[in-house]
Amino acid sequence: VAQLSSDAVVETNRLILRHWRETDFEPFAKLNADPRVMEYFPAPFRRDETKAMLKVLKEKFQKFGYSFWATELKATQEFIGFVGLNIPGYDLPFSPCVEIGWRLSFAHWGKGYAPEAATACLEHGGRTLGLKEIVAFTAESNVRSRRVMEKIGMRYDAHGDFSHPKLSSDHPLSRHVLYRFRCQK
Ligand SMILES: CC(C)(COP(=O)(O)OP(=O)(O)OC[C@H]1O[C@@H](n2cnc3c(N)ncnc32)[C@H](O)[C@@H]1OP(=O)(O)O)[C@@H](O)C(=O)NCCC(=O)NCCS
Repeated sequence: VAQLSSDAVVETNRLILRHWRETDFEPFAKLNADPRVMEYFPAPFRRDETKAMLKVLKEKFQKFGYSFWATELKATQEFIGFVGLNIPGYDLPFSPCVEIGWRLSFAHWGKGYAPEAATACLEHGGRTLGLKEIVAFTAESNVRSRRVMEKIGMRYDAHGDFSHPKLSSDHPLSRHVLYRFRCQK
């Protein structure tokens, strides 16, 4: 039986969502540099961009007590990416908000890991953090991510489409869609 790590926050059948460790940097930098994983971002991350993101996540954990969690397979303790709840660091048309997000290494796609972890995060958000609503947003063309939103019971907001404030309006990824989830106590 695998030992549950003491920094675990959310547990599912197959996954542990836990705080970040120094040793996550290399595998995280590797998946962030993969163009398949970063297809719906302006560009894959350089190593310094991964470092900067980890610094921001650390600050969010200190400030809010949560952010995207490092995600590992229970069976092997392999780090496979992140899933979690996060307060965006910039204004959006629906701010203030708490978002749910995910990014997994390509080798682990298609096994339902993102929906499994995300379902547990929605529950954690409502029951443990006392959130009333959680949103998700992605580029309109990111069908894979939208499938996860649909599979975990989020609702597409037909009035929610927006141009991403960090991208120029003629960027091919500019158009974003918004999904909402009302938390249960
Ligand atoms: C979005 C993501 C987290 C989905 O994780 P996952 O654990 O593979 O989720 P699922 O197994 O439920 O698969 C979701 C959809 O991805 C697609 N998919 C699954 N495996 C795939 C593969 N190997 N290759 C291409 N597409 C695949 C399918 O459309 C699937 O939907 P379906 O179950 O209705 O067929 C993952 O694709 C990812 O990390 N993508 C890159 C990062 C990203 O775009 N994050 C969201 C930014 S807002």
